[in-house]
Amino acid sequence: ARRTGVTRPAGADAEAGGAGANPDRVRIFDTTLRDGEQTPGVALTVEEKVEVARWLEALGVDVIEAGFPVASDGEFEAVGRIAEAIHGPVVAALARTAAADIDRAWAAIRHARRPRIHVFVSTSPVHLEAMLRMTEDQVLRLVEEMVAYARSLCPDVEFSAQDATRSDVGFLAEVTAAAIEAGATTINLPDTVGYATPWTYARMFQEVMARVPGSDRVVFSAHTHDDLGMAVANALAAVRVGVRQVECTINGIGERAGNCSLEEVVMALAVRGDVFGATTGVDTQRLVPTSQLVSRLTGVPVPPNKAVVGANAFAHESGIHQDGVIKNPLTYEIIRPEAVGAGGSQLVLGKHSGRHAVRVELERLGFRLPEEAFREVFRRFKALADRREFVSKEALARLAAEVLDERQQ
Ligand code: KIV
Ligand code: ZN
Repeated sequence: ARRTGVTRPAGADAEAGGAGANPDRVRIFDTTLRDGEQTPGVALTVEEKVEVARWLEALGVDVIEAGFPVASDGEFEAVGRIAEAIHGPVVAALARTAAADIDRAWAAIRHARRPRIHVFVSTSPVHLEAMLRMTEDQVLRLVEEMVAYARSLCPDVEFSAQDATRSDVGFLAEVTAAAIEAGATTINLPDTVGYATPWTYARMFQEVMARVPGSDRVVFSAHTHDDLGMAVANALAAVRVGVRQVECTINGIGERAGNCSLEEVVMALAVRGDVFGATTGVDTQRLVPTSQLVSRLTGVPVPPNKAVVGANAFAHESGIHQDGVIKNPLTYEIIRPEAVGAGGSQLVLGKHSGRHAVRVELERLGFRLPEEAFREVFRRFKALADRREFVSKEALARLAAEVLDERQQ
């Protein structure tokens, strides 16, 4: 029978991250080790995966998706090792709606302190026709059976409707109701191909929540991809309508254009509490070091202009900006660099830089120049900056020493 009602309470006892008591707390579900590792060209060793998991635990994420155990023996071993090593966060293992996948996932995480089986199946017409070759009724039955099976093994079960954003919302509601009735404690509605916009993604959650009576007993989750560059915006739009888990990766790594970036979503919630009224348990001062670790181990560089963790995130080049930041960092910085574990604001000296920044930098380098000497150093600095991308501190110090020498002769 097709339905959208729920008759049995879901297992809200299996709440993630101790966040259940606080309705404003957004759980951070990190999938760097599963979806993030699906970045083309990235393959971490078991030891590297355990190391990343320990850093994620120190960062304060609520859930670590450790991998897809049925994928390979190495993957199974890595998930098992992470399950043993991690004490605080929930450790999740991914499985398709197939008993063999679920058994393998459970075998890998059963000794975790807080295990979660994450079961998924596609719900969009294009996936059902081209990949699964199944009808909606068949998918619905599979969800009922396999979520119930996972729940018979593990008290914490997440269900994901793959390609939810290209699915019929009525069918999505039926699948959600079936998954909740079968015992799912978290319902994830992914934007698998990065097709959603903030408005459509938020509306999809609102419609599903309104149609499924048991919605208030589970945690809804956003899982977004960045094909149109809206992964973070979409996840935040979902949070605004009551979604309380966000699935994301360090540096936004993942399939194709990548996933929702953990550091961006966490800092958006931290900085714009006025808009979202929601918090996370992440220790933001560990964001930059964790980003650097993941970049080093995966070999995926962090773009310099990447929000929050990029090398230029707190660098200022233009004279007007530098002058403002020297007077008060709030003029051009909305995040304190120390709050995310970055070294501090940087004044990059280039052709756009002004007198104020050059004078401050010279003073930091130990040069207190008489006005006339300073003017000459500044003239030579501009001439040099016109020929180079930027002028290093060493080059500036050489200019100052040169001018002082000439004046002493
Ligand atoms: O993008 C996606 O739909 C996924 C699911 C497996 C959760 O990664
Ligand atoms: Zn994904």
